[in-house]
Amino acid sequence: MLRDAPRSAAQRIAPTFAENIVAWQRSHGRSELPWQNTRDPYRVWLSEVMLQQTQVSTVLGYFARFLDRFPTVQALAAGTEDEVFGLWSGLGYYTRARNMHRCAQEVVARFGGQFPRSAAELETLPGIGRSTAAAIAAFCFGERVAILDGNVKRVLSRVLGFDGDLASAAQERALWNEATDLLPPASEQAAIAHYTQGLMDLGATVCLPRKPSCMLCPTAGVCEGRRQGEPEKYPVKTRKLRRTAQSLWMLHARDPQGRVWLEKRPARGIWAGLYCLPVFESRAALLDGLAPVDRHSARDEAGFVHGLTHKDLHLHPVAVVCRGASGGGAQGRWFDAHEWPALGMPAPVRKLLAGG
Ligand code: ADE
Repeated sequence: MLRDAPRSAAQRIAPTFAENIVAWQRSHGRSELPWQNTRDPYRVWLSEVMLQQTQVSTVLGYFARFLDRFPTVQALAAGTEDEVFGLWSGLGYYTRARNMHRCAQEVVARFGGQFPRSAAELETLPGIGRSTAAAIAAFCFGERVAILDGNVKRVLSRVLGFDGDLASAAQERALWNEATDLLPPASEQAAIAHYTQGLMDLGATVCLPRKPSCMLCPTAGVCEGRRQGEPEKYPVKTRKLRRTAQSLWMLHARDPQGRVWLEKRPARGIWAGLYCLPVFESRAALLDGLAPVDRHSARDEAGFVHGLTHKDLHLHPVAVVCRGASGGGAQGRWFDAHEWPALGMPAPVRKLLAGG
């Protein structure tokens, strides 16, 4: 019998691929994490957003504290941004926290406090991209939709030998289509949650960026990257970020009691809404803002480089002991050693205050 050529690389291995992932997830995947074994979209959403750029081991504590303080989406919506940032402090990428707060408010305002049940509607909420929306819809509502986060891009591009450049939107779309072709059949209703979790678990524990454990992989028999002998060459991503550099001077002011002066950053721009040492574009500008009596105490501390996604910040802290009532501008105040650790704060500033 003549058969049609496969429409996609995915069709070469579907539906066995999904069956293997589901069976492997059931026996080898993770099943005891606190956001599993629930279909509560609030918990699943919280965990998915936290897990976007942070490892499971770190997320566990934050997830518990968040739920403790904000047990429902209504409670989170009613919280203040400072409190949300405070609970987030240390997780980094604070845009996630801001979007999470806004998302909770929209779920309350637009959907009466119930998360919508489809990936398409979930994706209209702040901070919920296509993959996160699909994960929530698959875990909570059994929707048959593909995920494609960073880990899953790696797994699928290797299995399929997908060599399109994922820096290109068209190639990324093509991989989304392949991911959709690989989904378990609609008749297997219980499969989608295990399948979705299985791809995540495989990417996090077996199909690692370097030195993947192909011996342990349930897809090794059909993996094109492995067959070629070079799974690590996938995913292909050529575009390099053009990094820039910027120098900033930070006023590390303490008062005679050892309290530190912190200001809330403006709502837009770098470190928006976080508490921070006052930042200046030059050492002279920093010294200019000080009272003459305090200026002579200025002492340069060791500078360091902090890498953001697109730029390297060369940070130059200047320690000053302030006799006056104020360490800086009107948006700031003195914080003692019991207060500042609970604030939402840029990671390099936290590190500096903690003594390096
Ligand atoms: N990373 C993103 N989502 C995850 C999940 N549900 N379990 C484990 N790791 C994840």
